[in-house]
Amino acid sequence: RHRQKIEDLIAAMTVEEKAGQLNLLADPFRWMPTAVNPLDGTGDPARVTALIREGKVGSLFNGIGAETGRRIQQVAMEESRLKIPLLFAADVIHGLSTIFPVPLAEAAAFDTELARRTARAAAIETAASAVHQTYAPMVDVARDQRWGRNVEGAGEDVLLNNLLAAARVRGFQGDKGLDDRDAVLATAKHMAAYSAAVGGMEYNTTDMSEQTLRGVFLPPFKASVDAGALSIMSAFNDVNGVPASGSRKLLTDILRGEWGFEGFVVSDYTSEQELVAHGFAEDGRDAARLAFNAGVDVSMVSGLYLEHLPGLVASGEVSMARLDEAVRRVLNTKAALGLFDDPYRGTDPVREKAVVGAREHIELSREAGRKSVVLLKNDNGLLPLNKSQKIALIGPFADDVDNVWGPWTIWGAPERRVSLEAGFRAAMSDPQRLTIARGSGVETPLDGGIDQAVAAAHDADVIVLAIGEATNMSGEAQSRTEIVVPAPQVALVDAMTALGKPIVILLRNGRALALEGNVKNAQAIVVTWFLGEQMGHAVADVLFGDHGPSARLPISFPHKSGQQPYSYDRKTTGRPANPDLATEEYKSRYRETPNTALYPFGYGLTYGAISYGPIEMQSDKLQWAGTLNVAVTVTNTGSRAAEELVQLYIHDRVASLTQPGRLLKDFKRVSLRPGQSEKVTFTLNPRQLGFIGADETWRIEPGLFDVWLAPHAQGGATATFQLIGPASITDGR
Ligand code: IFM
Repeated sequence: RHRQKIEDLIAAMTVEEKAGQLNLLADPFRWMPTAVNPLDGTGDPARVTALIREGKVGSLFNGIGAETGRRIQQVAMEESRLKIPLLFAADVIHGLSTIFPVPLAEAAAFDTELARRTARAAAIETAASAVHQTYAPMVDVARDQRWGRNVEGAGEDVLLNNLLAAARVRGFQGDKGLDDRDAVLATAKHMAAYSAAVGGMEYNTTDMSEQTLRGVFLPPFKASVDAGALSIMSAFNDVNGVPASGSRKLLTDILRGEWGFEGFVVSDYTSEQELVAHGFAEDGRDAARLAFNAGVDVSMVSGLYLEHLPGLVASGEVSMARLDEAVRRVLNTKAALGLFDDPYRGTDPVREKAVVGAREHIELSREAGRKSVVLLKNDNGLLPLNKSQKIALIGPFADDVDNVWGPWTIWGAPERRVSLEAGFRAAMSDPQRLTIARGSGVETPLDGGIDQAVAAAHDADVIVLAIGEATNMSGEAQSRTEIVVPAPQVALVDAMTALGKPIVILLRNGRALALEGNVKNAQAIVVTWFLGEQMGHAVADVLFGDHGPSARLPISFPHKSGQQPYSYDRKTTGRPANPDLATEEYKSRYRETPNTALYPFGYGLTYGAISYGPIEMQSDKLQWAGTLNVAVTVTNTGSRAAEELVQLYIHDRVASLTQPGRLLKDFKRVSLRPGQSEKVTFTLNPRQLGFIGADETWRIEPGLFDVWLAPHAQGGATATFQLIGPASITDGR
């Protein structure tokens, strides 16, 4: 639509106006209403207004709200020469006003439909707030838990990342077209390999084989593009010596050439300017040239495109064709969003009031919260708790509301945050039986805190300890060297343990943690992440047994911090360690630590007791053009209902490039009443068995494969089958 109008506009635009369409300003009006951003002078409404009027702004971000949107759009539509509507963007990562679990927590639900629904609800609120684009989903695969931004993604597994990336893109963009009232343009970020930062240190260099790049880090971007994402954000890091925001290979050859992406690429906050600090560009002009020619269409915040593209075109260092192409991509996206038909979409305050923080979104937040809770340990069936027990709720997160949302919540409604205390009180039959004490700060001791905690726990039947990381300990620029519970909280746990009462640990965390000492030895351990605004209720739903725990770890919890980087799908090596022989010498392991996870990827208990039968295979051969049914019977031998997540892993025994010891290929959820058995069948096909070969193309090789049907990445029933076929097959990328 509007193709001719777009061509006419391009023909009518000056080079400066073209550069203006590719200029994204941040922080206008509402986000930093009084401060002036030193980078580009934005935040000063008069200056922003002047720039819009002069046609020097194509998009704005983090300035939202129906009224504000109308006011700003009016400047573009009524006072600029060409009257091209502005595009409004925002970081809506896990909800706009209604805050859902952080993406990592939601990944634990292993539920693509849930991820689609929360993204949909977020999109409805966002679109009604005059925002057309969200900078989500983050699809960086978590490989090192020291890196802070794992909290924003879908964990360590490639398949789960692919599925959730696609679900979230569909959720944001909807299925009625981008011009639908409730659709928001999705931005898959950060392309690429940002999460592979060496040492887990934020913004660090990445260095990897082509197989790892194409086999681990790129697939979720491809899945996002296939699901229809029309925007991609380029990353801060360099990949094998070339900064991602200056990488023609990533942003043009692969993204467009191989995958056929048709939307626009936006830089991350000044990432194109940072080509200078990387030592890849001489100065701002050179950085603009390199990033733009590599394929970054829109510049975020730096202002470099506005400043330098006209001169670069005049000198011939950037072609007019490339400039027109980038402008066309931006205008096409604006057209797809319906902005040429209705520049004021999303600016109706009545609709905004009706959908932002809507009751059904709040209920969905609680549902998503309880579906994301992972039960790691439950000795002697301590959980679920009895609603009439005397409970001491202790720890820095016992009554706290500041850490229920987690990172990236700019527009949440603080008054709706539900603390654990509030959730427990609402659930307990006699809330008087709840005693509360913080006992410790998050990273510093609390004066007299331990004494208060001991007093609060004195009469309790059970102690529930809410400990872990605060919001500001994960997220951007929050890399940690030790992924442990901070020392003052460990001292609190030790003091509580000395009381000799049963202890439930509720972990608050934005990454995997290495659990040690009395934290690890507690009778029950529950991973509660940052579950969003309804956190207190969501945790209580599970803890008191109204809903059984059904989530699984999307990241491995190691024994020690020093095991990082760690993911379950690592290779066997030439000297694989036998996990049962902890002291075996000259094997691939650390001196003091098994080469396994304490709680592996996929791990999570239910309130039932699940047993796995042997694998039943239709045949021990899989033909090249055929399929193979693989089944297992799971039984709930416990006395409470359970939802079991049956996971299918494979291992390619011999290949032309060594392969992971295990790789997730499918999963299925099954509900089991006490005593109930259910046969769970998967259908494998050869296409699930491929990998990126030495020639950088995808291939399948015949031979023997191990298969597991398992409750997690370190267990399960196993069998072997043979893939029968020609020598090997490649089918391009
Ligand atoms: O979207 C974010 C990105 O993830 C990190 N840098 C800033 C961007 C815009 O806020």
